[in-house]
Amino acid sequence: MNVRRVPTTPIEGQKPGTSGLRKKTAVFMEPGYLENFVQSVFDAVGGLDGKTLTVGGDGRYFNERAIQTILRMAAANGAARVLVGRDGLLSTPAASAVIRARKTDGGLILSASHNPAGEDGDFGIKYNIPSGGPAPESVTDAIYRRSLEVGEYRILDAGDVDLSAAGTRTLGGTCVEVFDPVAIHAGIMRRLFDFDAIRALFASGFTMRFDAMHAVTGPYAKAVLEDELGAPPGTVLNGEPRPDFGGGHPDPNPVHAGALVDLMMRPGAPDFAAASDGDGDRNMILGRGTYVTPSDSLAVLAANATLAPGYAGGLSGIARSMPTSRAADRVAARLGIPAFETPTGWKFFGTLLDAGLATLCGEESAGTGSGHVREKDGLWAVLFWLNILARRRESVHEILAAHWAGHGRDYYSRHDYEGVDRAAAEALLADLRGRLAELPGRRHGPLSVAAADDFSYRDPVDGSIARGQGVRIFFEENPRAVFRLSGTGTAGATLRVYLERFEDASGALGLDPQEALAPVIAAAAEIAGIHVRLGRTAPDVRT
Ligand code: G1P
Ligand code: ZN
Repeated sequence: MNVRRVPTTPIEGQKPGTSGLRKKTAVFMEPGYLENFVQSVFDAVGGLDGKTLTVGGDGRYFNERAIQTILRMAAANGAARVLVGRDGLLSTPAASAVIRARKTDGGLILSASHNPAGEDGDFGIKYNIPSGGPAPESVTDAIYRRSLEVGEYRILDAGDVDLSAAGTRTLGGTCVEVFDPVAIHAGIMRRLFDFDAIRALFASGFTMRFDAMHAVTGPYAKAVLEDELGAPPGTVLNGEPRPDFGGGHPDPNPVHAGALVDLMMRPGAPDFAAASDGDGDRNMILGRGTYVTPSDSLAVLAANATLAPGYAGGLSGIARSMPTSRAADRVAARLGIPAFETPTGWKFFGTLLDAGLATLCGEESAGTGSGHVREKDGLWAVLFWLNILARRRESVHEILAAHWAGHGRDYYSRHDYEGVDRAAAEALLADLRGRLAELPGRRHGPLSVAAADDFSYRDPVDGSIARGQGVRIFFEENPRAVFRLSGTGTAGATLRVYLERFEDASGALGLDPQEALAPVIAAAAEIAGIHVRLGRTAPDVRT
């Protein structure tokens, strides 16, 4: 078999600081585009000679074609072995689990997360390091630099590899091992959670819906929830992965998973519901008549962690991203363990997990996880909740109410202004940054500003510093508003405004969050001049 060296033109690859390359599918399908990125990764990690790689994706349009190309390139670059999920499928947390369990030299994950899929949708690819986590900035920068200069890629002249059944095949000098994408991850879940208790819960008539949103988690959820834990067939909704995700937008939030939320707010709703996103790393948790914010979910999991066998020995620490509410910090304080506040993005949790400083991590954007892998993990969060429900035998609402009664409640909401003019959004933030020193002491309605800064983080393990991670405004009366621009959107800019206010256990705990937050919402809009600068009177999405 022949290795071809194909000339390629440099691409404007993955932007430094982002954890993957995400573009329109059509861009990835242009001759040489995917190949340029893949060759850049291989070169940036010092070549592939004799190495083992994990490869899989969320099943979106172009997934399998991309994998066939990657396999031929890995073979041409001298890889010893490539592990590929059957049918090319691997959820992001499962890919992380496989990289770790099989000790591969990292892996390539094909996904654009919750972004719509299809010929007109988005595609993405990222390289994860041997710890199983997203590549740190030093590696992504090296990949980026290489993508701007790489002049050719190597690819084997060979046909497609059969990915439809588990087994071992050869491609040139490379062994391609097709494996069950569910088994390794399910094995970890079995060790962490009390499957007997969850089985007994379902046997007692407990009802649940899990919406896989036609994306990658269908096979995982069916295997674990229905086949192993005895949830009745039909528990998993939209469980067949489709190349276009059924035309939907698989982001598990009250907007894009609105049908599931509606179901849970109606009389006769099931006891519990959950959803995950395109690549299976995000989660949404619902009880009958109850939506659990991701920030509260992290706090409740932390407070109840010892009910799960995998965390029975307690937690070493809890880490949350800066814009996530401070509910988890209150649990950490009560448990007497450290709380870490990191910039947005899962990669910042990696060093804390590797060093054993934190056990649980979470982001307000529906990401929760632990040291079992180095990605956030949707199904893990769902099973953790099931474990707690099975042991406490209380409803989601009762668990949440008891949590607030014990710790107080951090009312929380994120307002997204999507598809706004990039220059206007950047100017808004630049202006805020320029005025930080003037803000303290100013009054806005009933609130006055106590302090304002631009969040910067020093990693306690490797000492690296990340600056400019978001403007924080703290008010005297305890509310907080945070402003940052999204780094993951593909059209225009998205301004995210994160709003929160704490009410202690003796206060009003049952208010509607938007009402409870009304003064801080108004103050944030006034301070940043949102309506004037963006020409918008209301956010597109409130979560
Ligand atoms: C968003 C979320 C962030 C998450 C990231 C990847 O990034 O806000 O918490 O880590 O997606 O899932 P953003 O678009 O805000 O930059
Ligand atoms: Zn995702």
